Amino acid sequence: MTQDELKQAVAQAAADYVAQNAPAGSIIGVGTGSTANFFIDALAPLKDRYQGAVASSEATRQRLESHGITVLDLNDVADIPVYVDGADEIDAGLNMIKGGGGALTREKIVAAVAKTFVCIADGSKLVEVMGKFPLPVEVIPMASAHVARELLKLGGTPVLRAGFVTDNGNLILDVKDLAITDPKGLEAQINQITGVVTNGLFALRPANVLLLGTAEGVKSIV
Ligand code: 5RP
Repeated sequence: MTQDELKQAVAQAAADYVAQNAPAGSIIGVGTGSTANFFIDALAPLKDRYQGAVASSEATRQRLESHGITVLDLNDVADIPVYVDGADEIDAGLNMIKGGGGALTREKIVAAVAKTFVCIADGSKLVEVMGKFPLPVEVIPMASAHVARELLKLGGTPVLRAGFVTDNGNLILDVKDLAITDPKGLEAQINQITGVVTNGLFALRPANVLLLGTAEGVKSIV
């Protein structure tokens, strides 16, 4: 199977999961990226079952609306039973690196509201120790040099993502050379640096369920 076929398989499995676990009339949280896009396409035929969706990025909002799915403002929503999103890396504890698409902050906010986080990923994303994928850190523009110096002190090599501005008007530093043996500790430590909006470690709020696409089929890991 190609990587796209694996992503489509997990996206369909997530749509099935939502149909079984999110009550009719509820609001679905939707992530960002190519795997999340396949999920949006799989969700579309079921759209009349739900009140609508909360989007984790402008790109996701546009794709949801192109399918006629109502997109709600998170400030008008108190209850999201299920949030479905991809990941750049995920470990056996369901800690993740996210933000390859630059949507990490809104993704983390929607995930914070959601009851259940379902991560959808092809098998290449499952790793023993995270950090091969550079860790995205969203920063306030005037703080980018200061934050970069602080990240160097932590042993990382920050690289400004060229020509990229987040949906929130901020910049991304992609941090290479981190061996992430304490994901929760590092997530908290980086978030303490003044000027950081948030970082792409999702360990303090990990996924609850991983739907992993493999050649043998979709595996559900909890
Ligand atoms: C976007 C993300 C994505 O979930 C992550 O980059 C995975 O993307 P893809 O499904 O395209 O591999 O965090 O900010």
